[in-house]
Amino acid sequence: MQPFCARISYALCMLGLLVLNVQASDRTTEQGEAAISNPYEECTSYGYEPVATQMKNYPGLWQLAAILPGDSAATDKWNSISSTISTNIPVKMLPPPSNYSSEDPDCWWTATQCTTAKLSSIPPDISASPEPSTLGYGFDDGPNCSHNAFYDFLQSQNQKATFYFIGSNVASFPLEAQRALTDGHEICAHTWSHPAMTTISSENAFAELWYCVQMIKLVIGVTPTCWRPPFGDVDDRIRAIANALGLQTIMWKYDTADASINGNTITEQTVEDNYNSFIDIASQGTFSSVGAILLTHERDNFTMSEAVKFYPQLKKVFQHIVPVGVSLNKTQPYIEAEYGLPSFEQYISGAVTNRLRPPKHLHQLIQTPANNRWLPRMRLKALLLWTLVAQLH
Ligand SMILES: *[C@@H]1O[C@H](CO)[C@@H](O)[C@H](O)[C@H]1NC(C)=O
Ligand SMILES: *[C@@H]1O[C@H](CO)[C@@H](O)[C@H](O)[C@H]1NC(C)=O
Ligand SMILES: *[C@@H]1O[C@H](CO)[C@@H](O)[C@H](O)[C@H]1NC(C)=O
Ligand SMILES: *[C@@H]1O[C@H](CO)[C@@H](O)[C@H](O)[C@H]1NC(C)=O
Ligand SMILES: [Zn+2]
Repeated sequence: MQPFCARISYALCMLGLLVLNVQASDRTTEQGEAAISNPYEECTSYGYEPVATQMKNYPGLWQLAAILPGDSAATDKWNSISSTISTNIPVKMLPPPSNYSSEDPDCWWTATQCTTAKLSSIPPDISASPEPSTLGYGFDDGPNCSHNAFYDFLQSQNQKATFYFIGSNVASFPLEAQRALTDGHEICAHTWSHPAMTTISSENAFAELWYCVQMIKLVIGVTPTCWRPPFGDVDDRIRAIANALGLQTIMWKYDTADASINGNTITEQTVEDNYNSFIDIASQGTFSSVGAILLTHERDNFTMSEAVKFYPQLKKVFQHIVPVGVSLNKTQPYIEAEYGLPSFEQYISGAVTNRLRPPKHLHQLIQTPANNRWLPRMRLKALLLWTLVAQLH
C-alpha cells in the first residue's frame, strides 16, 4: 500500500501533520474545551462519557420532562412534596385569557407581572438587586456551545455573573457548563426543556426542575438553590413546587428582549433601544436606592455580542455589577458548602470569587481517566509514526 504522504511532498505532509498535532483540541476536559477559540469547532458535538452513560436516567433532550419509570429518588421526592402543592390553582393557557380574574388570585406573572406570592408560605420573587446602584447581572438559556468568546470577555473584565442553565444544554455541552463554575460565576436552574411552566401539570413541572438540577449536579458538581422560569411564566402553583425543591425564584423587571427577535415587531434595533433606554433611566438615578435586574441571554452570538457591546455603558451608569446571589449576600449558593460566593461587601472590594472555599471537588465526581485526554493526540502521534515507518520501509 502506498503511504499517503508519499503522494505529495513528504516534508510538506509531515509539516501538515505536525500542525494538526499541535492544533488538535482536547475535548475531554473543561480546560481543553475552554481553550477552543473557533466557535464553529466549539459547537460541533463531542462525546462525554460521564454524561452519555447517564442519559438513560434523564428525559430526552428538549422533551417535556416527566418522572421516569423506576426513578425512585424522583418519585420519593415528588411524593413527599405533592400534598403541599395547591390543586386549586388551575393549569394555565397562554396568552392569559381575558376572563382571568383581574384580582390575580394566583400571582400569575405572565398576566400581571406579580412577584409577591399570594400564598403566605412562599417568599416573594427576587426581581431587583436590593443593593443601591447595583445591577444583578445574569444570562439565561446557556450553556451555549459558542460561549468561549463571551466568557473570555467576562474574565478579561474580572466580571462574574449569574447563569440560568437549561438542563438539556448542560447535557449537550457539559464542558461549557463546567467552565461557568470554574470561572467563578453563579449557576441557577432554568428547567430541563424550557416550557411555559404554568401550562403543564404539577408533576411535569416538578420533573422539569428536578432533572435540570440533577443534571447540573452531575455535570458541574453543585446543586443550585435558585431558578428562573422560562418566559417568566410562573404562578403560585409553580412557585410552591420550586420552593419545595429549595429553589429561590429569580425574576427581572427590565427586559432587553434580546432572545425575542422575530424580524417584525422585535428587531435588533429594538434590542439596542431597550439597552439604551435602560442605560438612560439608570443614568437618571432610577436605581439609586434599589438596584435592578435586566433580562439578557447567553443564547447565541447576537445576545452575547450585545452583552459585550453594552457592558462598558452599564459599568458607567451602575456603581456595581454583580451576580444576583452576590447582591443578596448569598454566600452559600449551593447545597454543597464547599462552593461559596463572596458577600456583596467582599465582591465590591475586589474579592470577586470566594477563595476560602474554592470548588476543589469540581470534576472529581465525573472526571474521565486522566490518560483519556491524551487520546486524540496519541492517535495523531501514531499516525505520524506510521507515516515515518512507511517511508523508511
Ligand atoms: C374562561 O373562559 C374559558 C373558555 O372561554 C373557560 O374554559 C374558563 O373556565 C373561563 N375561566 C374562568 C376563570 O372563568
Ligand atoms: C449557540 O450559539 C450559536 C452561535 O450563535 C448558535 O448557532 C446556536 O444555535 C446556539 N445554540 C443554541 C442551543 O441556541
Ligand atoms: C460572534 O461571532 C464572531 C464570528 O464567529 C466571533 O468572532 C465573535 O467572537 C463572537 N462573539 C461572541 C461574543 O461570541
Ligand atoms: C449584605 O451584607 C451587607 C454587609 O453586612 C449589608 O450591609 C447588606 O444590607 C446585606 N444585603 C442584603 C441584601 O442582605
Ligand atoms: Zn429562557
